[in-house]
Amino acid sequence: MPRLALSPVAPERADADLLVLPVAAGPDGPLAPPVTAAVLERLGADLAAVTGGAGRFTGKLDDVVLVPSYGALAAPAVLLVGVGPDDGRSPETLRRAAAVAVAAAGKAATLAVALHLPGGPGRPGPPGDHPGGPPDPPGVALAAVAEGTVLAAYRFQRHKSAPEPALAAVTLLVDGEASLATAGPVLRRAEVAARATLTARDLVNEPASRINPATLAAEAVRLAKAAGLDHQVLTGPALRRGRFGAVLAVGGGSATGPRLVELRYRPPGARRQVALVGKGVTFDTGGIDLKRGAGMEGMKDDMAGAAAILAAVTAAAELELPTAVTAILPLVENMPGASAMRPGDVITARNGITVEVTNTDAEGRLILADGLALAAEARPDAILDLATLTGSVVYGLGLGCTGVFGNTPALTAEVLAAAGRAGELACELPLLEDYRRFLDSEVATLVNATNEPGDSVQAALFLREFVAGVPWAHLDIAGPATAKEARYYQPKGASGWGVRTLLAFLDGPR
Ligand code: BES
Ligand code: MN
Ligand code: ZN
Repeated sequence: MPRLALSPVAPERADADLLVLPVAAGPDGPLAPPVTAAVLERLGADLAAVTGGAGRFTGKLDDVVLVPSYGALAAPAVLLVGVGPDDGRSPETLRRAAAVAVAAAGKAATLAVALHLPGGPGRPGPPGDHPGGPPDPPGVALAAVAEGTVLAAYRFQRHKSAPEPALAAVTLLVDGEASLATAGPVLRRAEVAARATLTARDLVNEPASRINPATLAAEAVRLAKAAGLDHQVLTGPALRRGRFGAVLAVGGGSATGPRLVELRYRPPGARRQVALVGKGVTFDTGGIDLKRGAGMEGMKDDMAGAAAILAAVTAAAELELPTAVTAILPLVENMPGASAMRPGDVITARNGITVEVTNTDAEGRLILADGLALAAEARPDAILDLATLTGSVVYGLGLGCTGVFGNTPALTAEVLAAAGRAGELACELPLLEDYRRFLDSEVATLVNATNEPGDSVQAALFLREFVAGVPWAHLDIAGPATAKEARYYQPKGASGWGVRTLLAFLDGPR
């Protein structure tokens, strides 16, 4: 990840490979805010001339122009980046503009980014797309640009013999010493949140030959130690003593036995206790109900919920957020081994509910059942679970959006608002009471899968049976956990979806 720094130095003296300056979209063409106008004047350049005229560069998002500085500035070149019209510029616009700058910066190793924008960001964005942030809180622009830059510069190159050079440093230029003081904590928060997102991406992008229940548990312990969290890892005998029948059954077919990781963050004077439960299927073959081969390599991402929670809880501790968190991560590999669970098996979850396994590929809801039951025992104020749970939610909402189910409207609203502040798309889906009947089993209390359409709803109804009435929200991240193609600050591959939503949530309602 690039080094991030703040500097009050004037843009013309900023020492970097590239000086990035904003240009707004005015009613009659591009508009240079004062910071950009001053630099252009120094260059003896006219905005209309350098942007080519004829409406090619209008200052809208996605517009970029590279202008050489011929020795008139400390930086050898200026990158003019469109940031759209002054009204309706949301933090998401700035995250995206930062990503456009990173892409256009090419092989430049160091960037200096001048932020002082007219009007400021934060008014609600256009309806129908990403929600805007709250109105103009200080530092929203800075945080958005810092996050967009770091998230966009990410590449997963660990297993490349010749990794491409990465962006090394970004200096955010602020308007004088006074803003420097207020910007410091804002930048630090954005930096921790962005780095945590990259941690989650790394874990998800790693192949399942490296990330299995044992190595993921070890990684959780390593991160927990570094963040000063209480941690505990349960393996075979402890899982049996603890009656985690579902985790044991799903993990039974793998050469690497299941684990259940518990991490605890307890800030002094916590306002609230939250339990986070993350689906940690390090690879999902489907089990005996084996998946077809096409696309199966994507099932290494089936631990994205656990990865996001692990990254978020350690970042929450680093940021000393005011919420007490218990993270519960059931970790399994769903394999069709000789001791794998079979279709028709009956298993008993931690809370005593019996489940007929009608489909071994509906394994996520099984391990979450044990995790949610454990979470509910402590009667927290809220339980959130994150899971790449169903293909069905991808049919419903597509690849970009998380489906949020909840048993308490106020909590669901809070989760959706946190996602909005983070710039992560989420949408509520209903717990349709009418479908509950499909889950009744002839031989046990519940079946884990049916042949009825609407599986994401049924999966959510199944999970609800294990939360013992505690306020709960279920986030089905099967769509946005990984991206099929690069877009703005989301490279192809793992997204880290949920890390920033969780941090916004744990920071408390605004
Ligand atoms: N991990 C999958 C869900 C999934 C599918 C995530 C596609 C991301 C992309 C889950 O364990 C699964 O296999 N679900 C089945 C359930 C079915 C057997 C009832 C599914 O969605 O097909
Ligand atoms: Mn599955
Ligand atoms: Zn799965």
